[in-house]
Amino acid sequence: MDAQVIRTADELMRSGYRPMTPQESLSGEIKGTLIALRKKGHSMDEAMALLFPNTVVGPETLSNLVSALIAGSHVLLFGPSGTGKTSLAKDIWQLFPKEVFVVTDCPVQDDPASVVDPVFHRRVKCCPSCQSRFGDGMEDFDPSKVDPKKVPVSRVHLKEGFGLARLQGSSEVFPDNLTGVYNLHKLQELGDPTSPLILEPGKLLQANRGLLLADEVGKLPLGTQNVLLQALQEGIVSPAKSRETFPGSFVAITTSNLRDLDAINEPLNDRLSNIYFNYIKDHMKNRSIIEISPGARVEGAHFPEVLLHAGVFVVEAWRDLAVDVPELSEVGSNRTILDTVSRSQAFAFLSGERSVSRKSFESGVREAMYGRIRARGGDSFLRNEEIVREFLGGNLPLAVERGFRTYWCTFFQRELSSSAARGEKLARAMASGTIPQGGDGDLLRSFILRMERHRGAASDEELIRSVTGLMNTMQDFGCKGG
Ligand SMILES: Nc1ncnc2c1ncn2[C@@H]1O[C@H](COP(=O)(O)OP(=O)(O)OP(=O)(O)O)[C@@H](O)[C@H]1O
Ligand SMILES: [Mg+2]
Repeated sequence: MDAQVIRTADELMRSGYRPMTPQESLSGEIKGTLIALRKKGHSMDEAMALLFPNTVVGPETLSNLVSALIAGSHVLLFGPSGTGKTSLAKDIWQLFPKEVFVVTDCPVQDDPASVVDPVFHRRVKCCPSCQSRFGDGMEDFDPSKVDPKKVPVSRVHLKEGFGLARLQGSSEVFPDNLTGVYNLHKLQELGDPTSPLILEPGKLLQANRGLLLADEVGKLPLGTQNVLLQALQEGIVSPAKSRETFPGSFVAITTSNLRDLDAINEPLNDRLSNIYFNYIKDHMKNRSIIEISPGARVEGAHFPEVLLHAGVFVVEAWRDLAVDVPELSEVGSNRTILDTVSRSQAFAFLSGERSVSRKSFESGVREAMYGRIRARGGDSFLRNEEIVREFLGGNLPLAVERGFRTYWCTFFQRELSSSAARGEKLARAMASGTIPQGGDGDLLRSFILRMERHRGAASDEELIRSVTGLMNTMQDFGCKGG
């Protein structure tokens, strides 16, 4: 039967409907997508990465995460700030199958099978409101006694508040926020305990049938963590001032920073598949964050590739230092990588540049990193700024050099077949400030035009001139193996 014309649970069940828990539904979607991508010729690693199009995930994390989701686990992503945990959680929501059948007017969007199918009811009970609405005063609700023709069904699209709930952990999130309340005042007013107006669903009931995204779970008070635990353990939620329990069936994607891990109570943590979401080591993957992050804005002037790489190299070098000062923990974040781009472009704009100069870039990186120092007081801020300044003094020129080398050596290997003689000849010729006409000079020009992804409004000539200018400030054109 056409899904559009299904009106009752009877029609739904006859159509061959197979009810699924949110875990099964997400798992099935992931497996189906992976199989389809593999058929298109992608490797399994590529296919897994394509599941999360807005987030760059390291290879190990990726397979742990995907296998946890396929296995139907709830997940705790833990790691430093700004690694892309929230971005990943949003990608998982994008992936989640959102077209579902629900009992019409049910306050928590019960699956019709929970009302009429004894087998599924045993796995996921329907809510008290549906029980009293369709149970005809039964002492103990029995789905086999419900007439499926009398259970109205709608097809809905899950959305925030209805199948998706987002929660930001803090000490002020009380159990009621998660459970919701059973409004006794409204009950007296309306006299109908089944009215959807009586129940104000909290976050866990809003997540029913879908996903709960809970950031910083370690910051939730213990009592609130216990409510979440009950939902994950038993799939039920008891709203405040109610003796009834409601279904809380969802996939939980939770996050925590490293400092709050200890504050997550053990039984709750035991229900979550722990996945370490650390910074990525691979430079090219970090570079790709600038391309795929929805938070990235490469706008305005031409941004030379050499400098884009350099900005990423600086942040990577900072991470390698592993400075253990809490106020500086954000300086190495992926947010800083994105800031190096937007700040440099802001400086380029202020200087009226059509192509981001090295000077604007250096100011941009400095401000991006200073801007991530957490201020705790004037003196300590100045001390921390000094640490970053000292770091940049040596590391910023090094990073630009590495950016240049990444660029030049790609050209050298791909286009000059790693011929040292050709590389030196071209570098000598360029010392005059321009790329020679013909031969390898032409190869370099077309390489530049292909490589520069963020061109702004610069013409081909402007692009080539600014990249050449940048290259000419470099001393060493040597590449490993040539
Ligand atoms: N791995 C990544 N891939 C793509 N974009 C990323 C990545 N990491 C960070 N970003 C971008 O950086 C910004 C911050 O990322 P996000 O909020 O996801 O980090 P987080 O790990 O949740 O941080 P926090 O621990 O502070 O909550 C966003 O604009 C996001 O798009
Ligand atoms: Mg976050």
